[in-house]
Amino acid sequence: AYRQIPKEKGLDHTLDLLSEGFHFVPNRRDHLQSNIFQTRLMGKKAICLSGQEAARVFYDNRFFKRKGAAPKRVKKTLFGQNGVQGLDGEDHKHRKRMFLSLMTPDRLQELQTITQRLWAQKAEEWEKGDQVVLFDEAEEIMCRAACEWAGVPLPENEVKQRTTEFSRMIDAFGGTGFRYKKGKKARERSEKWIQQVIKQVRYGEQQPAPYTAAYIIAMHSERNGRKMVAAAAAVELINVLRPIVAIGRFIMFGALALHDYPDLEEKLLNTENEEYSRMFVQELRRYYPFAPFTGAVVRKDFLWNKYRLKKGTLVIMDIYGTNHHPDLWEDPEVFRPERFRGWEGHPFSFIPQGGGDHYTGHRCAGEWITIMLMKTSMEFLTGHMTYQVPEQDLRYDMARMPTLVNSGFIIENVKAR
Ligand code: HEM
Repeated sequence: AYRQIPKEKGLDHTLDLLSEGFHFVPNRRDHLQSNIFQTRLMGKKAICLSGQEAARVFYDNRFFKRKGAAPKRVKKTLFGQNGVQGLDGEDHKHRKRMFLSLMTPDRLQELQTITQRLWAQKAEEWEKGDQVVLFDEAEEIMCRAACEWAGVPLPENEVKQRTTEFSRMIDAFGGTGFRYKKGKKARERSEKWIQQVIKQVRYGEQQPAPYTAAYIIAMHSERNGRKMVAAAAAVELINVLRPIVAIGRFIMFGALALHDYPDLEEKLLNTENEEYSRMFVQELRRYYPFAPFTGAVVRKDFLWNKYRLKKGTLVIMDIYGTNHHPDLWEDPEVFRPERFRGWEGHPFSFIPQGGGDHYTGHRCAGEWITIMLMKTSMEFLTGHMTYQVPEQDLRYDMARMPTLVNSGFIIENVKAR
């Protein structure tokens, strides 16, 4: 016998999604007491899933595909057209390997070295000045680091503009009106710029090292043996640069955590080994809101826990809610890095950057980079500089996707140490 999927009444709940944001799925999961429920979004039936067992099935390629999952407006801002996010099967695996080939230990080490140098340079600048908005500065550092590491030339007089463009693509995710338009424009400009870079690399006018993202992506052969069209290659190179800039948001939340939980700093500084720093970063990725959910389409009719999922149905996997799921986390609403002590990892319960396998599934290609750069940056903030946090609006809006501290986190009286 089949079980009925709990169903939310009403014609459409897109407006509720926009007004509840990160809490949209968790609110309904609580209310309906179910890790699966049906609603309507953007005029279509949608099934929402939450929790570890749901993630396990969501990341099973036999049952889900990504083609047709992302709404047009997301492709026009955050993702771009014809990128890895929308590929399935062998095409996806082939493209994914290209991304993962960038993530060797040597290359990660190089990115870390670049980033440490940039933090030190910036901190020296901040010492001379008055106040800075940490979010903006962190994004700029990440943008400089990303381009240098990836072999993408970034003229000094374009740094601010390019950083803003990457930032706006990310910020547009749940945006309507002006925020959406800014994100769309930012993508158009950014793609134009990066397409030029791709062409220059192909024609030998730019010669980045053969292990850089710019080179690897420009020269990548598709399964049919041909190079990607320049527009698609640009989308993929942006898929490396933009999310590195996104790490700035986690750094801002890290600074907020240091401010809200003053005993953290001492623990970070006192720990001889790097374990506390690693636990801190994991808890930042679990606790603070960034990616709210991800989507896929049912590939063929199948049964899950006696629920019938029908081919072609849009399915939303709750990322934020799974990281805060009361069945998986003790006191989920408490910020406690110690919960990750001795933690062995689990592919489906802790999914801030997607779940499952990096190679065969859609799990984030940049998870190692993210963890490393967050660690490096938090270690710099605590170990290599001191600063004060003036009175400001440190709240963040859980309805906004993605969200940020209202003030952007202002710091002052920066001193190197
Ligand atoms: C995919 C989050 C950083 C590259 C994803 C997904 C999420 C995510 C939620 C989708 C998972 C899914 O749909 O199943 C984040 C967050 C980041 C971050 C919160 C930190 C701020 C990075 C970095 C890179 C990167 C630094 C690369 C340098 C990618 C790529 C994909 C992806 C290429 C597509 C993977 C695929 O479709 O197979 N990320 N990410 N991300 N991410 Fe990240």
